[in-house]
Amino acid sequence: MDAIPETMRAIDPAAPGGPEVLTVVERPVPRPGAGEVLVRVAAAGVNRPDVMQRQGRYPPPPGAPTIPGLEIAGTIVAVGGDVGAEQVGQRVCALLSGGGYADYAVAPHGQCLPMPEALTMVEAAAIPETLFTVWTNLFERAYATEGDTVLVHGGTSGIGTMAIALCGLFGIDIVVTAGSPEKCAAAVALGATHAIDYRCEDFVARVQAITGGKGVAAVLDMVGGDYLPRNLQCLADDGRHVSIAVQRGLEATIPIFEVMRRRLTITGSTLRGRDGAFKALVADELSRTVWPHVEAGRLKPVIDRTFALADAAEAHQWMEAGDHVGKIVLVMS
Ligand SMILES: NC(=O)c1ccc[n+]([C@@H]2O[C@H](COP(=O)([O-])OP(=O)(O)OC[C@H]3O[C@@H](n4cnc5c(N)ncnc54)[C@H](OP(=O)(O)O)[C@@H]3O)[C@@H](O)[C@H]2O)c1
Repeated sequence: MDAIPETMRAIDPAAPGGPEVLTVVERPVPRPGAGEVLVRVAAAGVNRPDVMQRQGRYPPPPGAPTIPGLEIAGTIVAVGGDVGAEQVGQRVCALLSGGGYADYAVAPHGQCLPMPEALTMVEAAAIPETLFTVWTNLFERAYATEGDTVLVHGGTSGIGTMAIALCGLFGIDIVVTAGSPEKCAAAVALGATHAIDYRCEDFVARVQAITGGKGVAAVLDMVGGDYLPRNLQCLADDGRHVSIAVQRGLEATIPIFEVMRRRLTITGSTLRGRDGAFKALVADELSRTVWPHVEAGRLKPVIDRTFALADAAEAHQWMEAGDHVGKIVLVMS
């Protein structure tokens, strides 16, 4: 194995701004602490929260690296205390609270999953953030289960395409929204049961028609604002509404008596700020519930486009343009 250098290439903007702040700089290679591993990064997923961080709207939680990047795939090259030396050389993908846009990144060992033979490094790097998010919200907070029908907004986003893949694996009908006929067609081709073009169709009326007036068991919402009361109209009795983002507004007016009368649950979560113990628990659960499907090649992320690390600015521009379907990934070499 090659010696670990003292310094590495990284994206680490000095101040918030447009995509142009994402230039390559030199940074010390981080050192793994207790329970951590140092990964030579082959690829790093790009997520919408990285764009918000760059804009200064989503600062890293205390203790997290200022280098963006919430997920990586690569090879373990060093271990900290409490991690066996035999881990060196293992290929993994990992969920991070930051630091992925670099040649090397430190990951808590509990947040690493073994790199499946069925996946490329690019594909493996595109999995953790959306898998952990969709699993903990749609399956755990909203209890989506076989036979349910659910509504997921942003059907062609990184999150939406992972939701389509997981629903396919677990026997759940998934209705999605997307902002163009092309995106709707892409979502259906990926396995969505129905796709609603929210720019020209009323998604509430369509969901009611699709479900024969019953409504869906759960809504996974990344839109917020005025979508909240409309989402609640899509829910069946005892339905669950989970917020994971607020792209159309932080506040909403909801009909409280409807929530009571139909026994609705309104919840939500953010993944990044959760502690390592929680994330390790989720990783352990995913290693038993979903990873066998990944290893068998039954779950693959949808890769839209890859960019070199030096072209991270273009990667963010591409995400902000909003024409992508699935994941955007940075490749290190
Ligand atoms: N809570 C958490 O832990 C967590 C974790 C990860 C991500 N997230 C959030 O999840 C969202 C998706 O992340 P990503 O990385 O997958 O981003 P992404 O691929 O860039 O997707 C963003 C999506 O938002 C959709 N959208 C925007 N405005 C919309 C509207 N008015 N109605 C319906 N859809 C709308 C876009 O759909 P169209 O182009 O079709 O309009 C697009 O598919 C982001 O908001 C992100 O912040 C939350």
